[in-house]
Amino acid sequence: MKNYQITQWCAAFIRQQVQEGDFCIDATMGNGNDTLLLSQLCGESGKVLAFDIQEQALTATQKRLNAGHVPENYRLLLESHANMAEYATPDSVSCIVFNFGYLPGGDHSLATRGKTSIQALTQALTLLKKGGMISLCIYSGGDSGFEERDQILDWLKNLDPHQYLVIKSEYYNRPNNPPIPVLIIKN
Ligand SMILES: C[S@@+](CC[C@H](N)C(=O)[O-])C[C@H]1O[C@@H](n2cnc3c(N)ncnc32)[C@H](O)[C@@H]1O
Repeated sequence: MKNYQITQWCAAFIRQQVQEGDFCIDATMGNGNDTLLLSQLCGESGKVLAFDIQEQALTATQKRLNAGHVPENYRLLLESHANMAEYATPDSVSCIVFNFGYLPGGDHSLATRGKTSIQALTQALTLLKKGGMISLCIYSGGDSGFEERDQILDWLKNLDPHQYLVIKSEYYNRPNNPPIPVLIIKN
């Protein structure tokens, strides 16, 4: 077993989930690591939408995708993920990835926020097809604080268990507010 970072942990499940031809969303594009992974996995016949509110993220992601020689199956949007329902139809998406927090190497004040994150997650549930999966990397402490983490965890706890399976993992023996990986699967 590898010594998984949170993004690698989530990526292992994303790899199991996404098939050639799937429609996927990267809700927090950042430097494009998840957009790249989704683009590779869903292939020529698939489609990826990626959202970020910072031009810097779109530039970094475009560079990353060019270097990765992926198919042109993606659309990079300078748009809040709180508006994602305007870009996809209900029950159409196989995998939606949220990597909350701030852009590494960027402005920490332009981080995701609990209110808009929950608006986006609520829309993501609707867009997800049956058997679809949402992957969440939740950070706290330092510049991220605790408000967003607590709001998201509360929201997750109240999801209808008949409609959604929610699995929250834990870095149990790691100090200092370790990140929290979560999967939501639509039944
Ligand atoms: C931790 S980074 C994402 C890292 C990214 N997944 C990667 O592979 O590099 C979080 C990103 O969320 C973006 N963000 C903040 N608020 C947002 C919003 N309302 N809609 C979309 N993206 C947002 C930030 O600009 C930042 O780039």
